[in-house]
Amino acid sequence: MSIFQFVFENGQTREAMDLSPHGHDPVMVDQVLKYLVPKPGEVILDCTAGRGGHSLEIAKRIVPGGTLLALDVDPENLKYAKKRLDAESLENVKIRLFHANFAEASDVLSEAGIERVDGLMADLGVSTNQLLEDTHGLSFNMDVKLDMRLDPRIRKRASDLLAELDEKQIADILHDYAQERYAWRIARKIVQTRATVPIVTTGQLARLVRSVVPTKWGQIDPATRTFQALRMAVNEEMNVLHDLLESVPELLKFGGRAVFISFHSGEDRLVKQALRKWEDQGLCEVLTKKPLEPGEEEIHRNPRSRSAKLRALRWKADS
Ligand SMILES: C[S@@+](CC[C@H](N)C(=O)[O-])C[C@H]1O[C@@H](n2cnc3c(N)ncnc32)[C@H](O)[C@@H]1O
Repeated sequence: MSIFQFVFENGQTREAMDLSPHGHDPVMVDQVLKYLVPKPGEVILDCTAGRGGHSLEIAKRIVPGGTLLALDVDPENLKYAKKRLDAESLENVKIRLFHANFAEASDVLSEAGIERVDGLMADLGVSTNQLLEDTHGLSFNMDVKLDMRLDPRIRKRASDLLAELDEKQIADILHDYAQERYAWRIARKIVQTRATVPIVTTGQLARLVRSVVPTKWGQIDPATRTFQALRMAVNEEMNVLHDLLESVPELLKFGGRAVFISFHSGEDRLVKQALRKWEDQGLCEVLTKKPLEPGEEEIHRNPRSRSAKLRALRWKADS
């Protein structure tokens, strides 16, 4: 067993991440509700339904007469969210779930026959259960297929990217998405290894990274950054966030609110830049001058929340 066996992103332990009865604890719920202000009768779009934690809190607040549209790329999480919402038997509220990428949010609204929404939220990244389960192959703590697709519609798995991309493309992914200092060294080792044996399991990749990246006792597993970067590449996470942000002006009503929670500095930067651009153009009011972060109590209760950054806006432009 590796000394890293039970250490996840940011050095959290498996025990700490296992606690939620729903497989995932929604982060910064009070702050989300404060800025999203879902009210009776409103239409709210949850771009990342996950295990339904935020969706449920929103749904309760738009009764009576409200509509919640909730999307997720992972059909299993979506099913879970549906069951959880159904179990509440909320009356006088429409809840519609869609297996869709938030980059397709405009199409979802058209399909739902809704022109614009009163509020939208996106809680980016992956849920704790997705990291812990062996289905997606996101974790180096188990030896499973190197897949990493959140959405089964995606054609290329992580193992396909490692088989097809050249050394520079792999190094760029590691550098750009995870600021990996040893990006070139890891990329070279991948290319050398695949010349004799295909890299198709999480265990193979983790061992390969550990063999070329120096580590010190107590530091996070050196494979952490490689796994995060590859996941972002497989799911094109920066591209789809860019597409979602581009569509915001077509999604929100006058006075509509949007809340974004990011766990990655690159994603937070994209959100910050979009908000600043719209504010400069007089299209929105930015409600969070600095990104909000979870408080100490939440970080203690849910260590995964530690890197969350929340930004919010109110749309000021007429449709
Ligand atoms: C951090 S979790 C959201 C948790 C959720 N707020 C809750 O309370 O349970 C992120 C979710 O977004 C989904 N997701 C990631 N990228 C997505 C995308 N581009 N479009 C739609 N869903 C996405 C993931 O599959 C995951 O279920």
